[in-house]
Amino acid sequence: MSLIVKDLPAAIRDAKKRLRAGLPDLAGRFAGMEEHFRSEVAQIVAAREAGQPVIPEIAYSDIAAGRITPAEEALIRRRGAAVVRGVYSKEQAGCWNEEIGEYLTRNRYGEQKVDPDLDKYFSKLKAGRPQIFGIYWSKPQMQARQGEELARTRAFLNGLWHHQGPGGQSYFIPDRECTYADRIRRREPGDATLGLSPHMDGGSVERWIDEGYRQVYRHVFSGDWRDYDPFDAAWRTETSEIPSPAVCSMFRTYQGWTALTAQGPGDGTLQLLPIANAIAYMLLRPLLSDVPEESLCGAEPGRALSANAEWHSLLLPALTPIPRVEPGDTVWWHSDVVHAVEDRHDGKGYSNVIYIGAAPWCGKNAAYLEKQRPHFLQGQSAPDFAAENYEIGFDGRAREADLTPLGRKQMGFEAW
Ligand SMILES: [Fe+2]
Repeated sequence: MSLIVKDLPAAIRDAKKRLRAGLPDLAGRFAGMEEHFRSEVAQIVAAREAGQPVIPEIAYSDIAAGRITPAEEALIRRRGAAVVRGVYSKEQAGCWNEEIGEYLTRNRYGEQKVDPDLDKYFSKLKAGRPQIFGIYWSKPQMQARQGEELARTRAFLNGLWHHQGPGGQSYFIPDRECTYADRIRRREPGDATLGLSPHMDGGSVERWIDEGYRQVYRHVFSGDWRDYDPFDAAWRTETSEIPSPAVCSMFRTYQGWTALTAQGPGDGTLQLLPIANAIAYMLLRPLLSDVPEESLCGAEPGRALSANAEWHSLLLPALTPIPRVEPGDTVWWHSDVVHAVEDRHDGKGYSNVIYIGAAPWCGKNAAYLEKQRPHFLQGQSAPDFAAENYEIGFDGRAREADLTPLGRKQMGFEAW
């Protein structure tokens, strides 16, 4: 659903007034919350500096064998992120990497004219667009999305959510995935075209002014932030977004990617702020009296929601590079987890990924598949993204015949 806002400053003023009215003793509650997050950040920094892992790591083979322990699950819920190793073999990921390179070369991707006005999503983050390619329909992307191993991985991760309500109603179905066609990153060693400063996706001002989002964060906005559970799916599929290129209009349990090359800290890759409920801090910060009435601490419609030094400096030291990953490993982070891409790639090899998150079956996601399917058939950019449409005439893109029975369901060609 689309959220249309005619007078944004007025909407922000109204939202703040209403939210504050429901938050007695805001300053006192905020101080208590600040203490909690200061300690959480300190623990993460201490662990990182001691060389201990901060982002949970599990093996795909353990997911497949049902060997993930409750303690491991609890840590993923707390950190809001996980590295799942060995979802695909190194050989498979390496082949996909080469094949995508050939696809781009054969179709002269480098000669496409990029219209800078088409994609403004990241323009307010101090860094620009990194090496993200506007292709959605190469065969390797489609094969990776529809692979059985990835389906099993996502079913496990989706299952960490509370996907059923108290009355037994189902918010989403964890083992049925909807394909959200996204792009790829191919980043050359030495690239310093800048990465992405800390942000989260999936809505900015919406989180304060949309009724669905207010319900998602109902515990935070009523001052009981400790009762807020980032993995409670209630209302998550009922949110509305302001339409804009690159703002995700699906419900994603996690953002994520599959590594096509080895990459780690310093290779121009991902950093995560691994505190699943840190959104509570970002939601309440703009309601304090030192923030201008029409400001949401940097949130702007149609843009990524930035975590910035001016307003969120307490959280930022927890930003931690992902551990080194190998081709075929996957990285996942909750849709409310702050993340960034390193400015410089100082490593020796390409750092390449296929963006594939988790978007389980629900009415909202099924509706998106209806919009997405014709774009796939015609080779257009996916509907949430800038209409660059590079692949319409590309030789060798994936077609309907390339879909497996599972892929057909994930793309909405067939009912589950
Ligand atoms: Fe992002």
